[in-house]
Amino acid sequence: MKIFVAGASGVIGRLLLPQLVQAGHEVVGMTRKEEQKEAIEQTGAKAVLADVFNREQMVDILMEIKPDVVIHQLTSLSQGSSAENARIRIEGTRNLVDAAKQAKVQKMIAQSISWAYEPGTTPATEETALDIYAPMPRNTTINGVVALEEAVKEIPAQVILRYGTLYGPATWYAKNGDTAQKIMNQEMNATDGVSSFVHVEDAANAALLALDWPIGTYNIVDDEPAKGVDWLPVYARALGASAPDIQSGGSPWERGASNDKVKNECGWVLEYPTWRTGFAKSLR
Ligand SMILES: NC(=O)c1ccc[n+]([C@@H]2O[C@H](COP(=O)([O-])OP(=O)(O)OC[C@H]3O[C@@H](n4cnc5c(N)ncnc54)[C@H](OP(=O)(O)O)[C@@H]3O)[C@@H](O)[C@H]2O)c1
Repeated sequence: MKIFVAGASGVIGRLLLPQLVQAGHEVVGMTRKEEQKEAIEQTGAKAVLADVFNREQMVDILMEIKPDVVIHQLTSLSQGSSAENARIRIEGTRNLVDAAKQAKVQKMIAQSISWAYEPGTTPATEETALDIYAPMPRNTTINGVVALEEAVKEIPAQVILRYGTLYGPATWYAKNGDTAQKIMNQEMNATDGVSSFVHVEDAANAALLALDWPIGTYNIVDDEPAKGVDWLPVYARALGASAPDIQSGGSPWERGASNDKVKNECGWVLEYPTWRTGFAKSLR
């Protein structure tokens, strides 16, 4: 198939591109940056320079390429601004979807998140409502997620991947990542809030496999949603950092997510089924 990857140079895109090429697909990867082209082309994909906020450029590119599938792995997280990330979800996705519709793209696979669910005490399933009444600043993130998912559903076939918190190479949890640095500096307490993690290799592999998955929305998380008081000491140990301070409580929406649906309906098998062993493996 001919596959267009928006976000080809991102933390997931970089791992996904070679997998798509090896699976025999003709792949075009998008970046805004001349200096990223070489890395994209080394995977065997073709690189195209474009900015998703340039609507006409997106239409021209997709009309020319006419891909069978668009994989949307765009985020704007390098600057650490949730407003910028919401903008790419809202305006960027709008442009990408409109361009894809004009180019008669039949399938879109898109990156979303698994921590946008309403408050609760058990891991969220895909049936759980999104947290649309969340107060600011969380509201910014939720609005972005809702807009992204709604827009993607305008494509005839769509798979929405609600990823857990990524860990592994080049993520915030890598040795030189932001979270690792905070933990090394004892700036993060272990709370009762529950998170779901996913190794970035499993995240990329899910996007490849989703080419054959039925239309739907899936939590792409590992098997073990965990409280901060459980996972953070394990992660700190793997990093060689001191044990974190404990702080009781957590946000009511910090409930983690269940991967039952994607395992049962798509037969997804994880390379890293739990952070419990995955953190140490990924930091070796
Ligand atoms: N679920 C999660 O926990 C999750 C998910 C994603 C990322 N993250 C974290 O966020 C950090 C940064 O992520 P990242 O390295 O993937 O970088 P990023 O800055 O979020 O960029 C991701 C991708 O989007 C592209 N992009 C951004 N704005 C664009 C625009 N206006 N037009 C076209 N393309 C655009 C980038 O391309 P160019 O910059 O090459 O143009 C890149 O390919 C990582 O360390 C990771 O841990 C976490």
